[in-house]
Amino acid sequence: MNDADIARYRALFPVLERVTYLNPGTYGPLSTRVADALREWTTMLELEGPYSPIAEQRGHEAYEATRAKLAALLGAEPSEIALTRSVTDGTNIVAHGLRWQPGDEIILSDKEHESGWVNWQVAAQRHGATVKVLALANDEEELLRRLEALLTPRTRIVFMSHVSCITGLRIPAARLAKLVHDRGALFMLDGAHGAGQIPVDVRALGCDFYTGCGHKWLMGPQGTGYLYIAKERLEEVESVWVGWGSRAAGKGPGDAQLVWAEGNRRFECATRLWGIYAALGVAVDLIQEVGVERIEARVRELVGPFKRELAALPGMELQTPHAPHLSAGLVRLSFRGYDHDQLARRYEDQRMLFQYSRFEDGAQTIRFAVAYFMRPEELQRALDFLRRCAP
Ligand SMILES: Cc1ncc(COP(=O)(O)O)c(C=O)c1O
Repeated sequence: MNDADIARYRALFPVLERVTYLNPGTYGPLSTRVADALREWTTMLELEGPYSPIAEQRGHEAYEATRAKLAALLGAEPSEIALTRSVTDGTNIVAHGLRWQPGDEIILSDKEHESGWVNWQVAAQRHGATVKVLALANDEEELLRRLEALLTPRTRIVFMSHVSCITGLRIPAARLAKLVHDRGALFMLDGAHGAGQIPVDVRALGCDFYTGCGHKWLMGPQGTGYLYIAKERLEEVESVWVGWGSRAAGKGPGDAQLVWAEGNRRFECATRLWGIYAALGVAVDLIQEVGVERIEARVRELVGPFKRELAALPGMELQTPHAPHLSAGLVRLSFRGYDHDQLARRYEDQRMLFQYSRFEDGAQTIRFAVAYFMRPEELQRALDFLRRCAP
């Protein structure tokens, strides 16, 4: 990606002229294309009416086109994709849909988002399963050894983030999936920080389930997500929330014979804001236009030196591996004694967006999320700011 490419892509994100945007890890910025798609949809509803043939037709077509676009991005078939509202929706669909047996074991890593463990915990409590916790290791072989030691004949599923939101570790997913499958268990990835910033081929990775969202690295609208369920696994996941969208209708009340909509549509039970899925499709188009391999390469180029310079700051502890194949655009740092007031006012004073927290014991942490359209000068700006905040 040369400077002219970067300038062209940056021009699609007006916020980048105003803000040093280092947080697509929470919400990606909206491109003018996505914003236009949202505006066009709303205008059409306003002028034609939501129940007009044109709105119905466009909504349906765009929705299905987006399903196909996500399938292409993930290396899946369209019928293996359910469109959801969030990463969390997808995790819940699987956690509450699997037919559990008492004594089943669920393995989760210790570095998951809250939405990557509460749902499993609740499912385990409801069904007499147990949750075992895998301590993530940045060393690939050690991670495999630790997982191997936790797997038993009772292990039903292993769930982990493709890229941990806590440490930024990009797990060696294909090797882990193979180990899990060799032991007869299922493997699910939380792809909140996967698809969009790194290449994802669900078949090559060997995962049974992959849940993701539109609003982070795909730079799509909030309220959009997707869930891949490998077609071989579809019948193992019961659709628990059902309605007209899932076609879970018999002849009427009292008739329990259910007829499901095709493939993963059975998990889409009711009315959606169809236009946001149309806009998600536009966001995926841009990712494909830029190219996920090029995005990954560009982010590597930016993040390698950035991590080295960050790690050299006084008292900084880098939580994210340096190795490019074990990391992506998320960079987590722990430290103490940096100027809290300045850091807390990073947006107001510096027009800089990144995650920052200080805990009761005084420990501080920052998470940068570096997208392909960032410039090295912007990362230098963040480094200079941290130098000014250093103790
Ligand atoms: C790893 C991970 N999983 C799940 C979530 C929750 O995402 P959503 O709000 O789309 O469910 C996040 C959000 O930050 C996340 O980082």
